[in-house]
Amino acid sequence: PELVFSGVQPTGNLHLGNYLGAIKRFVTLQDTRPCIYCVVDLHAMTLPHEPAQLARTTREVTAAFIACGIDPGRNAIFNQSRVAEHAELAWALDCVARMGWLNRMTQFKDKAGKDRENASVGLFNYPVLMAADILIYRATHVPVGDDQKQHLELARDVAQKFNNDFAESIAAHGHGEAFFPLPEPVILGPATRVMSLRDGSKKMSKSDTSENSYIALTDDADTIVQKIRKAKTDPEPLPGHLDGLAGRPEAENLVGIFAALTDRSKADIVHEFGGSQFSAFKTALADVTIEKLTPIRTEMARLAADPGYVDTVLAEGAEKARAIARPNMDAVKDILGLIR
Ligand code: TYM
Repeated sequence: PELVFSGVQPTGNLHLGNYLGAIKRFVTLQDTRPCIYCVVDLHAMTLPHEPAQLARTTREVTAAFIACGIDPGRNAIFNQSRVAEHAELAWALDCVARMGWLNRMTQFKDKAGKDRENASVGLFNYPVLMAADILIYRATHVPVGDDQKQHLELARDVAQKFNNDFAESIAAHGHGEAFFPLPEPVILGPATRVMSLRDGSKKMSKSDTSENSYIALTDDADTIVQKIRKAKTDPEPLPGHLDGLAGRPEAENLVGIFAALTDRSKADIVHEFGGSQFSAFKTALADVTIEKLTPIRTEMARLAADPGYVDTVLAEGAEKARAIARPNMDAVKDILGLIR
């Protein structure tokens, strides 16, 4: 059966990239298949973290999921550490994944920086835990932004190797040819890689030191206007055709954001704004951004004032998730020869 899984880290402010690249797509997918959406608090510990802040941001991301339109009744929304099977499967997959595979992960290289000897083992192991997140549900579809592509490929490699290495035992336990489906990345739409507003060559990121580089889901209307007004552009007016965006990363980024926010195509946007100056386009962009984000911000604030509700969602979501994860973990133990 088809199943959607995705995760978001509770590290700092959620931004427009997280929304357009991932959460907005989570909302669409809930109408097509059962969905499990996870606040990955264990992943947030791979870099130095502050405990009180982790608990707060975990509730904040949960509130954002709900405020963006994910229905906690129809789907499972929960925090990763609550369902121990994620960590349990991660160990089994650690023994399947190869050092060489993890050594090639660009996100590890970026996050570890120059001082690799000093990176946490968890940071190195991050992609295996992510594979476990997906595979513990035997999920088939994983909506993510473009930056998670390599991690998804690793998850598929891990699934494939497990299926191959234990093919005989998998068949003997009645699971047929393969135990894990190879999860498919769902990387769709005009905003799979939203770039920094200050630098069209860098992706929009919550760890960026310049607050003007991203629009947070909690930014108010004035802040949004200011940040978009200050966004970097080039001196030419907008082109009337998509070809005209080539070599103009800042222009392309703003057009992509506009398209994603309004559920239109980039071609459609340049067709409408071709020949306009950026000042006019930015005003229109700020308007649609405010229109889409204001209800989300308002609902997040309402939910922040009702932590009891958010905690209930997390607890119930964890129950639903565990009901799928536990039998799958038991099957993995049987396949591996672990007595239970
Ligand atoms: P995270 O928390 O960094 O980001 C959450 C989601 O937002 C997407 N995203 C973007 N999309 C477009 N433009 C951007 N500038 C941008 N920045 C972030 C990310 O691609 C992601 O989809 N490793 C994951 C969390 C994770 C996960 C999983 C995801 C853990 N386990 C299992 C899928 C399945 C991460 O760090 O996302």
